[in-house]
Parts: sequence; structure tokens; C-alpha cells
Amino acid sequence: MSILNNEFRSEFPVLDQLVYGKRLAYLDSAATTLKPKAVIDSINHYYSKGTANVHRGIYFLSDEATNKFELTRQKMTKFINAKTYKEVIFTTGTTNSVNLVAQTYVRSFLKEGDEILLSQMEHHSNIVPWQLVAEEKKLKIKVIPINEKGELLVDEYKKLFTEKTKFVSVTYVSNALGTINPVKELIRIAHDHNAKIFIDAAQAMTHFKVDVQDLDCDFLGFSGHKMFGPTGIGILYGKESLLEMMPPYQGGGEMIDTVTFEKTTFNDLPHKFEAGTPPIASVIALGEAVSFIEKVTHAKIHEIETELLQYATSELSKIDGLRLIGTAAKKTSVCSFYLRDIHPHDVAALTDKEGIAIRTGHHCAQPLMKFFGVPATARASLAFYNDKADIDQLITSLHKVIKLFG
Ligand code: ALA
Repeated sequence: MSILNNEFRSEFPVLDQLVYGKRLAYLDSAATTLKPKAVIDSINHYYSKGTANVHRGIYFLSDEATNKFELTRQKMTKFINAKTYKEVIFTTGTTNSVNLVAQTYVRSFLKEGDEILLSQMEHHSNIVPWQLVAEEKKLKIKVIPINEKGELLVDEYKKLFTEKTKFVSVTYVSNALGTINPVKELIRIAHDHNAKIFIDAAQAMTHFKVDVQDLDCDFLGFSGHKMFGPTGIGILYGKESLLEMMPPYQGGGEMIDTVTFEKTTFNDLPHKFEAGTPPIASVIALGEAVSFIEKVTHAKIHEIETELLQYATSELSKIDGLRLIGTAAKKTSVCSFYLRDIHPHDVAALTDKEGIAIRTGHHCAQPLMKFFGVPATARASLAFYNDKADIDQLITSLHKVIKLFG
């Protein structure tokens, strides 16, 4: 069993420390993944030896920074199987990618009375940006329902379409439940109704291969920090034909072709959507994160995470009065739960003192919490660097919590 002696733990320096004198059990990878040494070294190198701006200077360091920066774009193009590098836009993260599409594509091409479909399990960042533009443009938002296991109801989704449905946005994987949605089917159905579709892939990238051409999605967004890369960097994938017809999002340097006070013309893709100096070190380090995943392989990640999920689910289920929230047939290694009538924040406050990092709260998914009739959950989210000892540490600690609360 690879989760007994996980060979990958040593690649993540954060794990090599004690918290409150206890072994650190990091079980919050859905919030942000840990960073491997290669990613940390890359950031260190840029600031200690490679600092220069990109696309601007013709001196050695600027040239080197530009080449490494654009190398990440090439790696990412291949990683998600985009047709061309022009379809890979650097943003600050998934939220920024959603807002970009809401404020450019939806704002420009949808008109009063048009409808947008979202699902009950969306993260707030895949609800609020669409609401902002919907209010301004008088668009209607409709909600795709889910069942008690936390699975999206595809037949109900089909019934929501009318001739006014022009846009759909759904998550690939639920951050709060781990549910993997059948996005290829959802995309096909959206296209059958001539609607465009955005896929929030923030929680998908580390778990399995995401192939935008195979999916045939119109847009897809994700964050670097949830795939072993730095914070503050993300990707928007968009089909070239759509990105071409969209107006720019933010104005500034880099995104222009020529500027006069009378009229400005814009740069070609992908730079049209990249105003200002980008987070250069983060982009370069994201390229290292991609190489790291490719070295480990999605197959190995899947193997370890499947074992971890099975073990965690089985051990948590043995605890009397523990309700697992999110039991979809297809899910990633996320275990959300509610323990008897103990508030999740009390659970986390006590498990924290045992060196355990779990997230509690509504997970930025208040409509989903409302559906399950809970104010919050405790969530243990596992990555391939976790091991059996992490789960055992959580289970032992939960028993102590129960004892304390009688
Ligand atoms: N969206 C992140 C999470 O689920 C922050 O924790």
C-alpha cells in the first residue's frame, strides 16, 4: 500500500516540521496544495539571480525571464492540450478567469432576458461574477439541481434550456464535496442548445488529466496554487475564435498594439488580455509545477489518492454520529463531514492543536450548505503527498473531540 510509506512526502518541505510539537497532518489541499522544492527553488532563483521584466528589455536577464515565462505558456498549452498558445491566458487565478469571461464575453454578447445556467454546487466565485453582469444586463440565472449524494441532475439540466439560454458555467469538481461532474456530457448538451460553456477546473487539475480539445469546452479556468504552483497566478483557456471576438478586459501596458489619444489598437492573443507587468516569478514557477505533475504522472496521483479516499471514507464512516456530506459515485479525495451536533469550528479548533490542518466553514459555497441543511462542514482534502498516518491522526483526534463534548 503506497499510503503506508509515501515516497513523495520528502519533496514538500512544509511537511518537515512540527506544529504545536505535533507531526503536521496537512489535510487542506483543496484550499491550496503544498509546493514541491522545485517550485520553491524556481521562485528563489528568479528573485536572487534572474530578476528582470518580460517582453520589454533586450538585455540578457530580460531575455532569459521572457523565455522562461513563455516556456510556461508552451508547457501549459501542451498540458491542457489547447490548440495554440494563443488560447492560454495568464490571469491571477480561477476567480479572475471567471470575471474576465463575465465582463467581456457575457457582457458583450448576451442581451436582456438571456439566461445563464449555474449549478447548486458552485463556489461563490462561479456565482457572483455572473450575478454582477446579470444584474447590469438584466439576464436571468437558473440553477441546475443536485441530489442528496451531491451529484448534478443531468436530466434536470437538460430541461432548463430554452431558446434564451446562452451561457452555462459549472464546476468540474466540487471544492466542498469532491463530486466530479460529467462535464463532457454537460458541454455537449450546452452546445446542442447553442450555448457557450465555462468550466471551473480549479479542483480538477491535480487529480486527473484535463484535455480542453477532448472536452470541447469554450472556456476553462484554474489556479496555479491548487496545482502545486504559487498563489496569484492562474489560467484562462478560451477557444481562439471566441477570445478574438471578445473586447479586452483591462487596459494598460502589454495589451496594446499602438496608442494615441484618439484611438488605441490592441495586441494579439494572448497578450490582449494580459495588461501590466505579470507575476513573472509565479508564472515561471508554475511551469515547474507542470513539469512536476508530469514527472509524478496523473496515473500515480490517481492510484495514491484512490487509496487515501477509500481509507479515509471507511475510517470516518466508523465514527458514530459522523455524517459524510458528498458521497457521489465519482469524486476526488475530499471528505466533508458534520460530527454529531458539534460545530465544525469547534472540531477544527481542537484538531488544530493536534497538528491537523483541515478547513471548516461554508467553503465559499453557501447555497450548497443550505441544500444540505448545515451551516458549515469540516473538510479533509487529501493530496498524493498524504499518507495513512495523516488520516489516523485525524481519526484519533476526532475521537478526543467526541470525548470532550460528551
Ligand atoms: N476554494 C478554496 C477551498 O475550497 C479556497 O478551500
